[in-house]
Amino acid sequence: MNRLKSDPGPSAVAEAQQTGEAARPPLLEVRDLTVSFDTEHGLVKAVNGMNFTVSERERVGIVGESGSGKSVTAQALLGLLQGADITGEILFEGRNILTMPKAELRALRGWDISYVFQDPLSALDPVRTIGDQVSQPLRLRGVPRNEARERAIEMLAKVGIREPQRRYRDYPHQFSGGMRQRVMIAIALIGEPRLVIADEPTTALDVRVQAQVIDLLYTLTEEQGAAVVFITHDLGILAGFADRMMVMYAGRVMEKAPTEELYHRSINPYTLGLLESLPRIDGPIPLTLTTIGGRPPSPSNLPSGCPFSARCRYVQDICREEAPALLTPPNGTHPSACHFSEWLAEEPGVLR
Ligand SMILES: Nc1ncnc2c1ncn2[C@@H]1O[C@H](COP(=O)(O)OP(=O)(O)OP(=O)(O)O)[C@@H](O)[C@H]1O
Ligand SMILES: [Mg+2]
Repeated sequence: MNRLKSDPGPSAVAEAQQTGEAARPPLLEVRDLTVSFDTEHGLVKAVNGMNFTVSERERVGIVGESGSGKSVTAQALLGLLQGADITGEILFEGRNILTMPKAELRALRGWDISYVFQDPLSALDPVRTIGDQVSQPLRLRGVPRNEARERAIEMLAKVGIREPQRRYRDYPHQFSGGMRQRVMIAIALIGEPRLVIADEPTTALDVRVQAQVIDLLYTLTEEQGAAVVFITHDLGILAGFADRMMVMYAGRVMEKAPTEELYHRSINPYTLGLLESLPRIDGPIPLTLTTIGGRPPSPSNLPSGCPFSARCRYVQDICREEAPALLTPPNGTHPSACHFSEWLAEEPGVLR
C-alpha cells in the first residue's frame, strides 16, 4: 500500500486523536455519505452525511434503532445499493467504491471486502452443498478443486462444524440456524478479506448461540487480521467486541467514541437513552426496562432541527430549529451531535 498517497492529512489525524481512531491511513474512509430513495411517498433520506473511518484490524460497531439507516450504509459500503441516489465518497484504500468500474468492484468484494448478513438461509443456495459454497470464493480465484476442498474443510472445522468432511456434502436445510451462520462466516473469511461487514449477523439466533457466533467472529478476524464493521440494534452485544462505536439515528451519526468511553461517558441524550434501556448484569435487575418513548421520525419527513428532538428529555427550542453538528465539545473527548454536549460532558454518563 502506498502510505503517502493515502495520507489522511492533518484534519483526519486531529479527529483520530479525538475519537480514538488510529492515526494510520484508514482502510476505509466514508466521506459525507448521503443516500436517498425516490419513492411514491416522497424522497426517503436514509443516510444523511455520514463520516467515518475504519483502520486496518479495527472493529467498529454501528448501533441504531430499526430504520436508522444501518443496512443502507452496509449495502453502500459493499457497492450493492441499487436504485438509490448516493453522494459522497466511500474510499477503500483510497479507491472510491461508488465510482469504480463494476469488474473492479466485484474483485474487491471477492478479495478484500466480505460480508455476513442476518439471514443465512436466504444467503445460502438451497440446492448447492455447503462444501461447494464454502469453497467457491477460492475456486473463483482459480485455486484447484482439491486444494479448495481441503481448505474449505479446514475452515468448516475452524468455525466449529463437527465432522466437517461429512458435513461438506450436506445441504443448508440440514444445518441449524446457528450452524448456518457459522457457515456464512466460513464463506466470508475463507478468502482472508481485509474488511468484513457484518449486518445483524446474530439477530435471528438465541442469546447463547449469539454470543458464540460473536466470539467466533472475533477470534477468526483477530487471527486473520481483518477489520470488522459490526452493525446491530443491540448496544449491549458489542461491549467486548468493538474498539469503537458509532450511534446512528435517522441516518446520522449521533455520537462516536471508543467503546468503553461510549458506555461510561456518553454525552448524547439518544445514546444515554439506549444505555438506560439495557438490562444490567452488574446491578439490580430492574422491574421494568426503560425504553425511549416515541418513535424515530419518518425518513421521508425529517424534522428541520435535531431528528431526536421529539423524543428527547432535554429538548429546548433550538433543538427543533437547528440540527446539531457532530462535534467534540471543548470539555469533551469525543464528538456528539447535540446542542447540549458541553453541558452533558460536565457529568458524562449521568442521567439527570
Ligand atoms: N430500496 C429502498 N427504497 C426506499 N426506501 C428504502 C429502501 N431501502 C431502505 N429504505 C428506507 O431507508 C431507511 C433505512 O433503512 P435501513 O434498512 O438501512 O434501516 P436499518 O437501520 O437497517 O433498520 P433495521 O434495524 O430494521 O434493519 C428506512 O426508512 C427504509 O424504509
Ligand atoms: Mg437493517
